[in-house]
Amino acid sequence: MTQLPSNPDAVRAAPCAGLRIGDPAPDFSARSTAGDIRLSDFRGRWLVLFSHPADFTPVCTTEFVALARAAGDFAERDCALMALSVDSLFSHFAWLRMIRDRFDVEVRFPIVEDPTLVIGRAYGMVAPQDNDSGTVRTTFFIDPEGVVRAMTCYPANVGRSTPEMLRTLDALQAVDAGSVLAPANWEPGDDLLQQPSALLDDVFAAPGQTDWFLAQASSGKRK
Ligand code: BEZ
Repeated sequence: MTQLPSNPDAVRAAPCAGLRIGDPAPDFSARSTAGDIRLSDFRGRWLVLFSHPADFTPVCTTEFVALARAAGDFAERDCALMALSVDSLFSHFAWLRMIRDRFDVEVRFPIVEDPTLVIGRAYGMVAPQDNDSGTVRTTFFIDPEGVVRAMTCYPANVGRSTPEMLRTLDALQAVDAGSVLAPANWEPGDDLLQQPSALLDDVFAAPGQTDWFLAQASSGKRK
């Protein structure tokens, strides 16, 4: 059922090649816990697409509980969540039922089945030398135009931070809104930075030694 479009431009990453920031996110259609879905149907919203190694594993379970509890925070930012693993649709269903019963939270965002790893390979979620392993914990932040704007990759034994995923999303949305830059440890409400000048006149006219390339912009909005 999982399909990548035949257009080679849409799937420009060779198997296992991975993606880079600025690449279009390869389109696909697949079965998921929310029915048949197509990645391109999410255009117009932000999308966090993330892979996990396997259903019914301890770290993955904590991640899904945390993300389901934070689903409203992502929705507030007009951002959809989509998960993916090699496990079958019925494995996903059984795991979500267990999570609901044990942790009292319903995972309502789609979990895609990718039994042949065709999507995982197109996104570089699988190590090139692996023939049968699950996907690692890769996260893609995809903007409303379908462009990969940030990505992270964690090993199977370290879970992701939901607050850091939300902070990354906030920073991407803040820099887009003002053509500004987000400094280290930026949080919503903190000052952003101006784009540095590309004009020598601005360099010589700046009052302080660093002001032409390191200057505060307006505050980002506090969530
Ligand atoms: C986990 O989610 O706990 C896990 C998954 C795969 C390998 C090791 C740990």
